Amino acid sequence: MYRTHTCGELRLDDVGRRVTLAGWISRIRDLGGIRFLILRDRYGETQLVVTPDSPAYGEAENLGREFVVKASGEVKMRPKDTVNPKLPTGEIEVYVDELTILSPSKMPPFYPGEEAKEDLRLRYRYLDIRGGRVLRNLELRHEVAKSVRKYLNSKGFLEVETPYLTKSTPEGARDFLVPSRLKKGSFYALPQSPQLFKQILMISGVDRYYQLARCFRDEDLRADRQPEFTQIDIEMSFVEREDILNLVEGMIRNVFKETIGVSLPERFDRLSYEDAMNLYGSDKPDRRFGMEITDLTEFFRDTKFKIARNILDNGGISKGFIIPSFADRMSRRLGDEFSAFVKDYGLGGIVWFSVKNGINSPTKKYLFKEYEGISKSLKLNEGDVVVVAFHGNWEELCNGLGALRLKIGKEYFPHLGKGFDALWVVDFPFLEWDGEESRWVARHHPFTMPVLEDLDKYRDDPGKIKALAYDIIINGYEVGGGSIRIHNREIQEKVFSLIGLTKEEALEKFGFLLDAFEYGAPPHGGIALGLDRLVAIIAGEKSIRDVIAFPKTASGICQLTGAPSRVDERQLRELGIRVEVKE
Ligand code: AMO
Repeated sequence: MYRTHTCGELRLDDVGRRVTLAGWISRIRDLGGIRFLILRDRYGETQLVVTPDSPAYGEAENLGREFVVKASGEVKMRPKDTVNPKLPTGEIEVYVDELTILSPSKMPPFYPGEEAKEDLRLRYRYLDIRGGRVLRNLELRHEVAKSVRKYLNSKGFLEVETPYLTKSTPEGARDFLVPSRLKKGSFYALPQSPQLFKQILMISGVDRYYQLARCFRDEDLRADRQPEFTQIDIEMSFVEREDILNLVEGMIRNVFKETIGVSLPERFDRLSYEDAMNLYGSDKPDRRFGMEITDLTEFFRDTKFKIARNILDNGGISKGFIIPSFADRMSRRLGDEFSAFVKDYGLGGIVWFSVKNGINSPTKKYLFKEYEGISKSLKLNEGDVVVVAFHGNWEELCNGLGALRLKIGKEYFPHLGKGFDALWVVDFPFLEWDGEESRWVARHHPFTMPVLEDLDKYRDDPGKIKALAYDIIINGYEVGGGSIRIHNREIQEKVFSLIGLTKEEALEKFGFLLDAFEYGAPPHGGIALGLDRLVAIIAGEKSIRDVIAFPKTASGICQLTGAPSRVDERQLRELGIRVEVKE
Protein backbone atom coordinates (compact mmCIF):
# COMPACT_ATOMS: atom_id res chain seq x y z
CA MET A 1 0.00 0.00 0.00
CA TYR A 2 1.40 3.39 -0.97
CA ARG A 3 -0.59 5.47 1.48
CA THR A 4 -3.24 5.45 4.14
CA HIS A 5 -3.78 9.21 4.03
CA THR A 6 -2.95 12.17 1.81
CA CYS A 7 -0.50 14.86 2.89
CA GLY A 8 -3.31 17.32 3.65
CA GLU A 9 -5.38 15.09 5.84
CA LEU A 10 -3.93 14.40 9.28
CA ARG A 11 -5.18 16.32 12.34
CA LEU A 12 -4.93 16.17 16.15
CA ASP A 13 -7.59 13.42 16.14
CA ASP A 14 -5.12 11.17 14.34
CA VAL A 15 -2.46 11.39 17.07
CA GLY A 16 -1.28 7.92 18.04
CA ARG A 17 -2.24 6.39 14.70
CA ARG A 18 0.21 4.57 12.49
CA VAL A 19 0.02 6.03 8.96
CA THR A 20 1.71 5.79 5.59
CA LEU A 21 2.08 8.82 3.35
CA ALA A 22 3.48 9.24 -0.17
CA GLY A 23 4.55 12.37 -1.96
CA TRP A 24 7.39 14.72 -2.86
CA ILE A 25 10.01 16.02 -0.45
CA SER A 26 9.55 19.76 -0.57
CA ARG A 27 11.96 20.82 2.19
CA ILE A 28 14.64 19.27 4.35
CA ARG A 29 15.95 20.67 7.62
CA ASP A 30 18.51 19.21 9.99
CA LEU A 31 18.21 20.28 13.62
CA GLY A 32 20.72 18.80 16.00
CA GLY A 33 20.81 15.52 14.13
CA ILE A 34 17.02 15.27 13.79
CA ARG A 35 15.79 15.45 10.19
CA PHE A 36 12.61 17.37 9.45
CA LEU A 37 11.13 16.62 6.04
CA ILE A 38 8.15 18.37 4.51
CA LEU A 39 6.18 15.94 2.35
CA ARG A 40 3.91 17.42 -0.31
CA ASP A 41 1.16 16.10 -2.58
CA ARG A 42 -1.85 17.65 -4.31
CA TYR A 43 -3.73 17.88 -1.06
CA GLY A 44 -1.22 19.56 1.21
CA GLU A 45 1.96 19.23 3.24
CA THR A 46 2.84 17.18 6.29
CA GLN A 47 5.93 17.38 8.44
CA LEU A 48 7.90 14.16 8.85
CA VAL A 49 10.43 13.70 11.64
CA VAL A 50 13.30 11.22 11.41
CA THR A 51 15.30 10.88 14.64
CA PRO A 52 18.84 9.42 14.72
CA ASP A 53 17.55 6.27 16.41
CA SER A 54 14.93 5.61 13.70
CA PRO A 55 15.54 2.63 11.38
CA ALA A 56 14.74 5.05 8.54
CA TYR A 57 17.54 7.47 9.44
CA GLY A 58 20.03 6.04 6.94
CA GLU A 59 17.60 6.38 4.03
CA ALA A 60 16.65 9.91 5.16
CA GLU A 61 20.25 10.93 4.67
CA ASN A 62 20.10 9.96 0.97
CA LEU A 63 17.15 12.22 0.23
CA GLY A 64 17.07 15.34 -1.89
CA ARG A 65 14.33 17.84 -2.62
CA GLU A 66 11.61 16.60 -5.03
CA PHE A 67 12.43 12.93 -4.35
CA VAL A 68 9.26 10.83 -4.33
CA VAL A 69 9.01 8.79 -1.14
CA LYS A 70 6.75 6.60 0.89
CA ALA A 71 6.98 7.07 4.65
CA SER A 72 5.35 5.24 7.54
CA GLY A 73 5.27 6.10 11.21
CA GLU A 74 3.27 7.35 14.15
CA VAL A 75 1.33 10.63 14.21
CA LYS A 76 2.38 12.78 17.18
CA MET A 77 1.24 16.09 18.51
CA ARG A 78 3.73 18.86 17.80
CA PRO A 79 5.23 20.62 20.82
CA LYS A 80 3.24 23.88 21.38
CA ASP A 81 6.03 26.18 20.21
CA THR A 82 6.44 24.36 16.89
CA VAL A 83 2.76 24.35 15.85
CA ASN A 84 2.32 25.91 12.40
CA PRO A 85 -1.07 27.66 12.35
CA LYS A 86 -0.77 28.35 8.61
CA LEU A 87 -0.76 24.65 7.74
CA PRO A 88 -3.96 22.60 8.14
CA THR A 89 -1.75 19.71 9.29
CA GLY A 90 0.37 22.10 11.39
CA GLU A 91 -0.58 20.65 14.77
CA ILE A 92 0.85 17.21 14.12
CA GLU A 93 3.95 15.53 12.70
CA VAL A 94 4.73 11.98 11.70
CA TYR A 95 7.66 10.18 13.38
CA VAL A 96 8.98 8.04 10.55
CA ASP A 97 10.38 4.54 11.08
CA GLU A 98 10.07 3.24 7.51
CA LEU A 99 11.14 5.24 4.48
CA THR A 100 11.30 4.13 0.85
CA ILE A 101 12.59 6.23 -2.02
CA LEU A 102 10.14 5.57 -4.88
CA SER A 103 11.81 7.88 -7.35
CA PRO A 104 14.82 10.18 -7.06
CA SER A 105 14.97 13.69 -8.55
CA LYS A 106 17.76 15.64 -10.15
CA MET A 107 18.36 19.12 -8.78
CA PRO A 108 15.40 20.98 -10.38
CA PRO A 109 16.00 24.20 -12.37
CA PHE A 110 13.66 25.87 -9.89
CA TYR A 111 11.84 24.61 -6.85
CA PRO A 112 8.09 24.07 -7.26
CA GLY A 113 6.19 26.98 -5.78
CA GLU A 114 9.15 29.36 -5.96
CA GLU A 115 9.52 32.28 -8.39
CA ALA A 116 10.91 31.46 -11.84
CA LYS A 117 10.90 32.99 -15.31
CA GLU A 118 7.81 32.00 -17.31
CA ASP A 119 9.84 30.34 -20.08
CA LEU A 120 11.41 28.03 -17.54
CA ARG A 121 8.08 27.40 -15.84
CA LEU A 122 6.54 26.35 -19.15
CA ARG A 123 9.50 24.20 -20.14
CA TYR A 124 9.36 22.29 -16.85
CA ARG A 125 5.59 22.66 -16.53
CA TYR A 126 5.34 19.56 -14.31
CA LEU A 127 7.50 21.24 -11.66
CA ASP A 128 5.47 24.41 -12.05
CA ILE A 129 2.12 22.67 -11.69
CA ARG A 130 3.43 20.64 -8.77
CA GLY A 131 4.23 23.95 -7.02
CA GLY A 132 0.56 24.55 -6.30
CA ARG A 133 -0.62 27.79 -7.89
CA VAL A 134 -1.39 26.34 -11.32
CA LEU A 135 -2.67 23.16 -9.67
CA ARG A 136 -5.17 25.24 -7.64
CA ASN A 137 -6.20 26.94 -10.89
CA LEU A 138 -6.74 23.60 -12.59
CA GLU A 139 -8.90 22.52 -9.66
CA LEU A 140 -10.88 25.74 -9.96
CA ARG A 141 -11.22 25.23 -13.71
CA HIS A 142 -12.59 21.77 -13.04
CA GLU A 143 -15.10 23.21 -10.56
CA VAL A 144 -16.20 25.89 -13.04
CA ALA A 145 -16.69 23.30 -15.79
CA LYS A 146 -18.59 21.05 -13.39
CA SER A 147 -20.87 23.89 -12.33
CA VAL A 148 -21.52 24.90 -15.95
CA ARG A 149 -22.41 21.34 -16.92
CA LYS A 150 -24.64 20.86 -13.90
CA TYR A 151 -26.52 24.07 -14.66
CA LEU A 152 -27.00 23.43 -18.36
CA ASN A 153 -27.91 19.78 -17.80
CA SER A 154 -30.58 20.90 -15.34
CA LYS A 155 -32.06 23.13 -18.05
CA GLY A 156 -32.40 20.28 -20.53
CA PHE A 157 -29.34 21.01 -22.68
CA LEU A 158 -27.74 18.25 -24.68
CA GLU A 159 -23.93 18.08 -24.82
CA VAL A 160 -23.00 17.29 -28.41
CA GLU A 161 -19.50 16.99 -29.84
CA THR A 162 -18.75 18.62 -33.18
CA PRO A 163 -15.80 17.85 -35.50
CA TYR A 164 -12.28 19.18 -35.11
CA LEU A 165 -11.35 18.23 -38.65
CA THR A 166 -13.66 20.44 -40.60
CA LYS A 167 -14.10 23.27 -43.03
CA SER A 168 -13.11 26.83 -42.32
CA THR A 169 -15.59 28.74 -40.10
CA PRO A 170 -14.83 32.43 -40.12
CA GLU A 171 -14.52 34.13 -36.73
CA GLY A 172 -12.12 36.75 -37.97
CA ALA A 173 -8.83 34.92 -37.43
CA ARG A 174 -6.64 32.77 -39.66
CA ASP A 175 -7.30 29.03 -39.74
CA PHE A 176 -4.95 26.28 -38.66
CA LEU A 177 -4.90 23.88 -41.57
CA VAL A 178 -4.49 20.11 -41.56
CA PRO A 179 -3.40 18.52 -44.83
CA SER A 180 -5.39 15.55 -46.05
CA ARG A 181 -3.40 12.42 -47.04
CA LEU A 182 -6.28 10.71 -48.79
CA LYS A 183 -7.21 13.79 -50.79
CA LYS A 184 -3.82 15.29 -51.50
CA GLY A 185 -3.79 19.04 -51.97
CA SER A 186 -6.90 19.45 -49.81
CA PHE A 187 -7.01 20.65 -46.26
CA TYR A 188 -9.19 20.44 -43.23
CA ALA A 189 -9.39 23.54 -41.07
CA LEU A 190 -9.43 23.25 -37.29
CA PRO A 191 -12.62 25.02 -36.13
CA GLN A 192 -12.34 28.61 -34.95
CA SER A 193 -15.61 27.79 -33.20
CA PRO A 194 -18.42 25.23 -33.62
CA GLN A 195 -20.65 28.05 -34.93
CA LEU A 196 -22.01 26.42 -38.08
CA PHE A 197 -22.37 22.97 -36.58
CA LYS A 198 -24.37 24.28 -33.65
CA GLN A 199 -26.69 26.10 -36.01
CA ILE A 200 -27.10 22.92 -38.03
CA LEU A 201 -27.90 21.13 -34.75
CA MET A 202 -30.77 23.58 -34.23
CA ILE A 203 -32.07 22.78 -37.71
CA SER A 204 -31.68 19.13 -36.66
CA GLY A 205 -34.15 19.65 -33.81
CA VAL A 206 -31.63 19.37 -30.96
CA ASP A 207 -33.30 22.48 -29.48
CA ARG A 208 -30.76 23.11 -26.67
CA TYR A 209 -27.09 22.38 -27.26
CA TYR A 210 -23.90 22.98 -25.36
CA GLN A 211 -20.31 21.86 -25.58
CA LEU A 212 -17.08 22.68 -23.82
CA ALA A 213 -15.40 23.00 -27.17
CA ARG A 214 -11.77 23.51 -28.04
CA CYS A 215 -11.36 26.26 -30.64
CA PHE A 216 -8.35 27.07 -32.76
CA ARG A 217 -7.37 30.49 -34.08
CA ASP A 218 -4.13 31.51 -35.69
CA GLU A 219 -3.99 35.09 -34.44
CA ASP A 220 -1.61 37.38 -32.62
CA LEU A 221 -1.39 36.24 -29.03
CA ARG A 222 -1.80 38.29 -25.87
CA ALA A 223 -2.31 37.63 -22.18
CA ASP A 224 -5.97 36.79 -22.82
CA ARG A 225 -5.53 34.92 -26.10
CA GLN A 226 -4.23 31.46 -26.91
CA PRO A 227 -4.12 29.72 -30.30
CA GLU A 228 -6.24 26.97 -28.81
CA PHE A 229 -8.73 27.76 -26.10
CA THR A 230 -11.99 26.44 -24.74
CA GLN A 231 -15.46 27.83 -25.24
CA ILE A 232 -18.60 27.14 -23.27
CA ASP A 233 -20.60 27.00 -26.47
CA ILE A 234 -24.38 27.32 -26.28
CA GLU A 235 -27.21 27.38 -28.83
CA MET A 236 -31.01 27.43 -28.35
CA SER A 237 -34.03 27.29 -30.63
CA PHE A 238 -37.21 29.39 -30.39
CA VAL A 239 -35.62 32.08 -28.24
CA GLU A 240 -35.21 35.83 -28.20
CA ARG A 241 -32.26 37.79 -26.94
CA GLU A 242 -33.56 38.08 -23.37
CA ASP A 243 -34.00 34.30 -23.07
CA ILE A 244 -30.32 33.80 -23.74
CA LEU A 245 -29.15 36.65 -21.53
CA ASN A 246 -31.26 35.34 -18.64
CA LEU A 247 -29.98 31.81 -19.05
CA VAL A 248 -26.34 32.91 -19.12
CA GLU A 249 -26.79 35.27 -16.17
CA GLY A 250 -28.11 32.35 -14.17
CA MET A 251 -25.19 30.21 -15.22
CA ILE A 252 -22.57 32.83 -14.35
CA ARG A 253 -24.22 33.58 -11.02
CA ASN A 254 -24.22 29.87 -10.22
CA VAL A 255 -20.58 29.45 -11.16
CA PHE A 256 -19.44 32.33 -8.95
CA LYS A 257 -21.56 31.14 -6.05
CA GLU A 258 -20.51 27.49 -6.29
CA THR A 259 -16.80 28.04 -6.88
CA ILE A 260 -15.86 31.06 -4.75
CA GLY A 261 -19.03 31.84 -2.82
CA VAL A 262 -19.51 35.24 -4.47
CA SER A 263 -23.06 36.48 -5.08
CA LEU A 264 -23.46 38.47 -8.26
CA PRO A 265 -26.56 40.64 -8.77
CA GLU A 266 -29.88 39.04 -9.78
CA ARG A 267 -29.76 40.91 -13.05
CA PHE A 268 -26.72 42.21 -14.91
CA ASP A 269 -26.91 45.71 -16.38
CA ARG A 270 -27.43 46.00 -20.11
CA LEU A 271 -25.52 48.83 -21.72
CA SER A 272 -25.85 49.71 -25.38
CA TYR A 273 -22.65 49.71 -27.40
CA GLU A 274 -23.07 53.44 -27.90
CA ASP A 275 -23.47 54.14 -24.18
CA ALA A 276 -20.53 51.88 -23.31
CA MET A 277 -18.34 53.78 -25.75
CA ASN A 278 -19.59 57.20 -24.65
CA LEU A 279 -19.28 56.53 -20.93
CA TYR A 280 -16.23 54.28 -20.72
CA GLY A 281 -14.56 54.62 -24.10
CA SER A 282 -14.69 50.87 -24.59
CA ASP A 283 -17.03 48.12 -25.77
CA LYS A 284 -15.79 46.07 -22.83
CA PRO A 285 -15.93 48.56 -20.00
CA ASP A 286 -14.40 48.03 -16.59
CA ARG A 287 -16.80 50.16 -14.59
CA ARG A 288 -15.11 49.56 -11.25
CA PHE A 289 -12.85 52.62 -11.65
CA GLY A 290 -15.70 55.12 -12.07
CA MET A 291 -14.41 58.21 -13.93
CA GLU A 292 -17.16 58.19 -16.55
CA ILE A 293 -16.40 60.12 -19.71
CA THR A 294 -18.58 63.16 -20.56
CA ASP A 295 -19.14 65.16 -23.69
CA LEU A 296 -17.58 68.58 -23.21
CA THR A 297 -18.10 70.02 -26.69
CA GLU A 298 -20.57 72.70 -25.55
CA PHE A 299 -17.99 74.29 -23.21
CA PHE A 300 -15.67 74.97 -26.14
CA ARG A 301 -18.31 76.39 -28.54
CA ASP A 302 -16.65 79.84 -28.58
CA THR A 303 -13.11 78.81 -27.76
CA LYS A 304 -10.20 80.65 -29.35
CA PHE A 305 -7.77 77.89 -28.42
CA LYS A 306 -6.44 77.09 -31.86
CA ILE A 307 -6.15 73.30 -31.76
CA ALA A 308 -9.66 72.96 -30.37
CA ARG A 309 -11.07 75.57 -32.74
CA ASN A 310 -9.75 73.71 -35.80
CA ILE A 311 -11.10 70.36 -34.71
CA LEU A 312 -14.52 71.64 -33.63
CA ASP A 313 -14.92 73.72 -36.80
CA ASN A 314 -14.40 70.55 -38.78
CA GLY A 315 -17.20 68.72 -37.03
CA GLY A 316 -15.05 67.30 -34.27
CA ILE A 317 -16.07 66.89 -30.63
CA SER A 318 -14.60 67.18 -27.16
CA LYS A 319 -14.80 64.67 -24.36
CA GLY A 320 -13.17 64.32 -20.99
CA PHE A 321 -13.35 62.80 -17.54
CA ILE A 322 -12.76 63.72 -13.93
CA ILE A 323 -9.99 62.12 -11.90
CA PRO A 324 -11.20 62.65 -8.35
CA SER A 325 -8.76 63.85 -5.65
CA PHE A 326 -5.83 63.79 -8.00
CA ALA A 327 -4.67 67.44 -7.94
CA ASP A 328 -1.72 66.73 -5.64
CA ARG A 329 -0.42 64.00 -7.89
CA MET A 330 -1.04 65.77 -11.19
CA SER A 331 1.89 67.52 -12.85
CA ARG A 332 3.00 68.94 -16.16
CA ARG A 333 5.16 65.85 -16.65
CA LEU A 334 2.23 63.50 -16.03
CA GLY A 335 0.07 65.56 -18.39
CA ASP A 336 2.74 65.10 -21.07
CA GLU A 337 2.80 61.38 -20.35
CA PHE A 338 -1.00 61.17 -20.77
CA SER A 339 -0.74 63.12 -24.03
CA ALA A 340 1.91 60.76 -25.38
CA PHE A 341 -0.23 57.80 -24.34
CA VAL A 342 -3.36 58.88 -26.27
CA LYS A 343 -1.27 59.62 -29.37
CA ASP A 344 -0.99 55.86 -29.85
CA TYR A 345 -4.77 55.89 -30.31
CA GLY A 346 -4.66 58.54 -33.00
CA LEU A 347 -5.49 61.53 -30.78
CA GLY A 348 -3.42 64.74 -30.82
CA GLY A 349 -3.03 64.77 -27.05
CA ILE A 350 -4.89 66.00 -23.99
CA VAL A 351 -5.23 69.21 -22.03
CA TRP A 352 -6.01 69.19 -18.32
CA PHE A 353 -6.75 71.35 -15.34
CA SER A 354 -7.00 70.82 -11.63
CA VAL A 355 -9.13 72.51 -9.00
CA LYS A 356 -7.03 73.55 -6.03
CA ASN A 357 -7.51 77.04 -4.66
CA GLY A 358 -8.97 77.91 -8.05
CA ILE A 359 -8.09 76.55 -11.45
CA ASN A 360 -4.55 75.38 -12.24
CA SER A 361 -3.35 74.28 -15.64
CA PRO A 362 -0.50 74.72 -18.10
CA THR A 363 -3.21 75.83 -20.58
CA LYS A 364 -4.99 78.15 -18.13
CA LYS A 365 -3.90 81.18 -20.15
CA TYR A 366 -5.87 80.01 -23.19
CA LEU A 367 -8.74 78.10 -21.70
CA PHE A 368 -9.53 79.71 -18.33
CA LYS A 369 -13.15 80.58 -19.17
CA GLU A 370 -13.85 77.15 -20.60
CA TYR A 371 -12.32 75.41 -17.60
CA GLU A 372 -14.35 77.60 -15.28
CA GLY A 373 -17.50 76.68 -17.16
CA ILE A 374 -16.76 72.98 -16.85
CA SER A 375 -15.86 73.36 -13.20
CA LYS A 376 -19.17 75.03 -12.36
CA SER A 377 -21.37 72.93 -14.52
CA LEU A 378 -19.90 69.56 -13.45
CA LYS A 379 -19.82 70.76 -9.81
CA LEU A 380 -16.17 69.84 -9.38
CA ASN A 381 -14.74 69.28 -5.93
CA GLU A 382 -11.52 70.69 -4.53
CA GLY A 383 -8.74 68.34 -5.65
CA ASP A 384 -10.43 67.14 -8.85
CA VAL A 385 -8.48 66.94 -12.11
CA VAL A 386 -10.19 67.07 -15.50
CA VAL A 387 -8.62 65.55 -18.60
CA VAL A 388 -9.93 66.87 -21.93
CA ALA A 389 -9.39 65.79 -25.54
CA PHE A 390 -10.58 67.08 -28.91
CA HIS A 391 -10.87 64.89 -31.96
CA GLY A 392 -12.59 64.53 -35.29
CA ASN A 393 -13.55 60.87 -35.04
CA TRP A 394 -15.98 59.75 -32.33
CA GLU A 395 -14.77 56.16 -32.11
CA GLU A 396 -11.09 57.09 -31.93
CA LEU A 397 -11.79 59.73 -29.30
CA CYS A 398 -13.73 57.22 -27.20
CA ASN A 399 -11.05 54.56 -27.55
CA GLY A 400 -8.19 56.93 -26.71
CA LEU A 401 -9.85 58.38 -23.62
CA GLY A 402 -11.14 54.96 -22.59
CA ALA A 403 -7.64 53.53 -22.66
CA LEU A 404 -6.27 56.48 -20.71
CA ARG A 405 -9.06 56.17 -18.14
CA LEU A 406 -8.22 52.51 -17.62
CA LYS A 407 -4.49 53.14 -17.38
CA ILE A 408 -5.06 55.82 -14.73
CA GLY A 409 -7.49 53.56 -12.87
CA LYS A 410 -5.08 50.63 -12.79
CA GLU A 411 -1.98 52.67 -11.95
CA TYR A 412 -3.33 55.16 -9.44
CA PHE A 413 -6.49 53.59 -8.03
CA PRO A 414 -5.67 49.85 -7.95
CA HIS A 415 -7.76 49.39 -4.79
CA LEU A 416 -10.88 50.07 -6.90
CA GLY A 417 -9.98 47.17 -9.21
CA LYS A 418 -11.23 44.61 -6.69
CA GLY A 419 -14.41 42.56 -6.75
CA PHE A 420 -16.46 41.67 -9.80
CA ASP A 421 -18.47 43.72 -12.24
CA ALA A 422 -20.50 41.79 -14.80
CA LEU A 423 -22.62 43.45 -17.48
CA TRP A 424 -23.99 43.00 -20.96
CA VAL A 425 -23.11 45.20 -23.89
CA VAL A 426 -25.89 45.02 -26.49
CA ASP A 427 -27.00 46.69 -29.75
CA PHE A 428 -23.66 46.37 -31.49
CA PRO A 429 -23.16 47.72 -34.99
CA PHE A 430 -23.53 44.87 -37.46
CA LEU A 431 -20.56 45.77 -39.62
CA GLU A 432 -17.22 47.42 -39.25
CA TRP A 433 -14.99 48.86 -41.91
CA ASP A 434 -11.84 46.88 -42.59
CA GLY A 435 -9.37 49.50 -43.79
CA GLU A 436 -6.79 46.94 -44.89
CA GLU A 437 -9.20 45.02 -47.09
CA SER A 438 -11.30 48.09 -47.97
CA ARG A 439 -14.57 46.35 -47.27
CA TRP A 440 -17.23 45.92 -44.61
CA VAL A 441 -16.80 42.90 -42.37
CA ALA A 442 -19.21 41.43 -39.83
CA ARG A 443 -18.34 42.71 -36.39
CA HIS A 444 -19.50 39.53 -34.65
CA HIS A 445 -19.85 37.03 -37.50
CA PRO A 446 -21.89 36.97 -40.69
CA PHE A 447 -24.47 34.53 -39.27
CA THR A 448 -25.70 37.17 -36.84
CA MET A 449 -29.18 38.58 -37.44
CA PRO A 450 -29.09 42.27 -38.34
CA VAL A 451 -31.93 44.54 -37.25
CA LEU A 452 -34.05 43.95 -40.33
CA GLU A 453 -35.50 47.48 -40.64
CA ASP A 454 -31.93 48.84 -40.58
CA LEU A 455 -30.98 46.63 -43.48
CA ASP A 456 -33.18 48.66 -45.83
CA LYS A 457 -32.96 51.98 -44.01
CA TYR A 458 -29.17 52.19 -44.12
CA ARG A 459 -28.52 50.71 -47.49
CA ASP A 460 -26.19 53.62 -48.24
CA ASP A 461 -24.67 53.79 -44.77
CA PRO A 462 -24.18 50.16 -43.71
CA GLY A 463 -22.09 51.20 -40.69
CA LYS A 464 -25.38 52.26 -39.04
CA ILE A 465 -27.01 48.82 -39.24
CA LYS A 466 -27.36 47.31 -35.77
CA ALA A 467 -27.02 43.63 -34.92
CA LEU A 468 -28.92 41.40 -32.52
CA ALA A 469 -25.57 40.69 -30.87
CA TYR A 470 -24.43 40.88 -27.26
CA ASP A 471 -21.25 40.49 -25.25
CA ILE A 472 -20.89 39.60 -21.61
CA ILE A 473 -18.18 41.63 -19.93
CA ILE A 474 -16.63 40.90 -16.55
CA ASN A 475 -14.07 43.32 -15.07
CA GLY A 476 -13.29 44.80 -18.47
CA TYR A 477 -12.78 41.46 -20.24
CA GLU A 478 -14.96 40.19 -23.03
CA VAL A 479 -15.88 36.86 -21.47
CA GLY A 480 -18.43 35.89 -24.09
CA GLY A 481 -20.24 36.94 -27.21
CA GLY A 482 -23.27 35.75 -29.10
CA SER A 483 -26.25 36.69 -31.18
CA ILE A 484 -29.63 35.81 -32.56
CA ARG A 485 -28.91 34.13 -35.89
CA ILE A 486 -30.16 34.45 -39.39
CA HIS A 487 -32.32 31.40 -40.20
CA ASN A 488 -33.39 32.33 -43.67
CA ARG A 489 -31.53 31.86 -46.92
CA GLU A 490 -32.48 35.19 -48.46
CA ILE A 491 -31.31 37.30 -45.54
CA GLN A 492 -28.15 35.25 -45.25
CA GLU A 493 -27.37 35.79 -48.92
CA LYS A 494 -28.05 39.51 -48.56
CA VAL A 495 -25.58 39.67 -45.68
CA PHE A 496 -22.94 37.72 -47.58
CA SER A 497 -23.23 40.20 -50.39
CA LEU A 498 -22.97 43.14 -47.92
CA ILE A 499 -19.59 41.83 -46.78
CA GLY A 500 -18.42 41.45 -50.34
CA LEU A 501 -18.83 37.69 -50.89
CA THR A 502 -19.87 36.84 -54.43
CA LYS A 503 -22.73 34.37 -54.90
CA GLU A 504 -20.23 31.73 -55.99
CA GLU A 505 -17.94 32.27 -53.00
CA ALA A 506 -20.91 32.13 -50.64
CA LEU A 507 -22.09 28.88 -52.20
CA GLU A 508 -18.65 27.34 -52.18
CA LYS A 509 -17.99 28.20 -48.54
CA PHE A 510 -21.42 28.03 -46.94
CA GLY A 511 -23.66 26.27 -49.45
CA PHE A 512 -24.39 23.51 -46.92
CA LEU A 513 -25.78 26.08 -44.47
CA LEU A 514 -27.83 27.89 -47.11
CA ASP A 515 -29.25 24.53 -48.20
CA ALA A 516 -30.09 23.55 -44.63
CA PHE A 517 -32.00 26.82 -44.16
CA GLU A 518 -34.40 25.58 -46.85
CA TYR A 519 -35.44 22.48 -44.94
CA GLY A 520 -37.13 24.03 -41.91
CA ALA A 521 -34.77 26.19 -39.85
CA PRO A 522 -36.16 27.28 -36.48
CA PRO A 523 -35.41 30.78 -35.17
CA HIS A 524 -32.38 30.33 -32.95
CA GLY A 525 -29.58 32.07 -31.13
CA GLY A 526 -26.71 31.43 -28.79
CA ILE A 527 -23.47 32.49 -27.26
CA ALA A 528 -19.97 31.27 -26.50
CA LEU A 529 -18.01 32.11 -23.38
CA GLY A 530 -14.27 31.83 -23.08
CA LEU A 531 -13.75 29.26 -20.32
CA ASP A 532 -10.08 30.20 -19.95
CA ARG A 533 -10.92 33.88 -19.48
CA LEU A 534 -13.75 33.14 -17.07
CA VAL A 535 -11.52 30.95 -14.90
CA ALA A 536 -8.66 33.49 -15.01
CA ILE A 537 -11.01 36.23 -13.79
CA ILE A 538 -12.39 34.06 -10.98
CA ALA A 539 -8.85 33.01 -10.02
CA GLY A 540 -7.63 36.63 -10.12
CA GLU A 541 -4.94 35.70 -12.65
CA LYS A 542 -3.75 38.27 -15.19
CA SER A 543 -2.97 35.73 -17.90
CA ILE A 544 -5.04 32.82 -19.16
CA ARG A 545 -1.78 30.86 -19.44
CA ASP A 546 -1.98 30.35 -15.68
CA VAL A 547 -5.29 28.50 -15.91
CA ILE A 548 -4.28 26.22 -18.80
CA ALA A 549 -2.24 23.10 -18.06
CA PHE A 550 -0.01 23.32 -21.13
CA PRO A 551 -0.32 26.77 -22.74
CA LYS A 552 1.68 28.21 -25.62
CA THR A 553 4.02 31.18 -25.37
CA ALA A 554 3.25 34.52 -27.03
CA SER A 555 4.98 33.22 -30.14
CA GLY A 556 2.79 30.12 -30.24
CA ILE A 557 5.41 27.68 -29.00
CA CYS A 558 4.81 24.81 -26.60
CA GLN A 559 7.94 25.03 -24.45
CA LEU A 560 7.42 21.56 -23.02
CA THR A 561 7.32 19.62 -26.29
CA GLY A 562 8.95 22.12 -28.62
CA ALA A 563 5.95 22.19 -30.98
CA PRO A 564 5.61 23.32 -33.69
CA SER A 565 8.47 21.34 -35.15
CA ARG A 566 9.72 19.97 -38.44
CA VAL A 567 8.41 16.66 -39.70
CA ASP A 568 10.33 14.13 -41.72
CA GLU A 569 10.42 14.04 -45.52
CA ARG A 570 8.46 10.81 -45.76
CA GLN A 571 5.51 12.27 -43.87
CA LEU A 572 5.51 15.29 -46.17
CA ARG A 573 5.73 13.14 -49.30
CA GLU A 574 2.70 11.13 -48.18
CA LEU A 575 0.79 14.37 -47.87
CA GLY A 576 2.03 15.67 -51.20
CA ILE A 577 3.64 18.65 -49.51
CA ARG A 578 6.98 20.28 -50.27
CA VAL A 579 8.38 22.80 -47.81
CA GLU A 580 10.05 25.77 -49.44
CA VAL A 581 11.12 27.66 -46.35
CA LYS A 582 14.72 27.00 -45.43
CA GLU A 583 15.76 27.33 -41.76
P1 AMO B 1 -16.22 34.90 -30.22
O1 AMO B 1 -15.28 34.92 -31.35
O2 AMO B 1 -16.65 36.22 -29.62
O3 AMO B 1 -17.61 34.22 -30.62
O4 AMO B 1 -15.64 34.00 -29.07
C1 AMO B 1 -16.35 33.77 -27.87
C2 AMO B 1 -15.44 33.93 -26.66
O5 AMO B 1 -14.30 33.08 -26.76
C3 AMO B 1 -13.21 33.68 -26.11
N1 AMO B 1 -12.05 33.76 -27.03
C4 AMO B 1 -10.79 33.44 -26.71
N2 AMO B 1 -10.24 33.02 -25.56
C5 AMO B 1 -8.92 32.75 -25.55
N3 AMO B 1 -8.10 32.85 -26.63
C6 AMO B 1 -8.61 33.28 -27.81
N4 AMO B 1 -7.79 33.36 -28.88
C7 AMO B 1 -10.01 33.61 -27.89
N5 AMO B 1 -10.82 34.03 -28.87
C8 AMO B 1 -12.06 34.12 -28.33
C9 AMO B 1 -13.63 35.06 -25.65
C10 AMO B 1 -14.84 35.31 -26.53
O6 AMO B 1 -15.74 36.21 -25.94
N6 AMO B 1 -19.16 31.51 -32.50
C11 AMO B 1 -19.15 32.75 -31.73
C12 AMO B 1 -20.06 32.65 -30.53
C13 AMO B 1 -21.51 32.74 -30.86
O7 AMO B 1 -21.91 33.62 -31.67
O8 AMO B 1 -22.27 31.94 -30.28
C14 AMO B 1 -17.73 33.01 -31.26
O9 AMO B 1 -16.84 32.21 -31.38
O10 AMO B 1 -13.99 35.00 -24.29
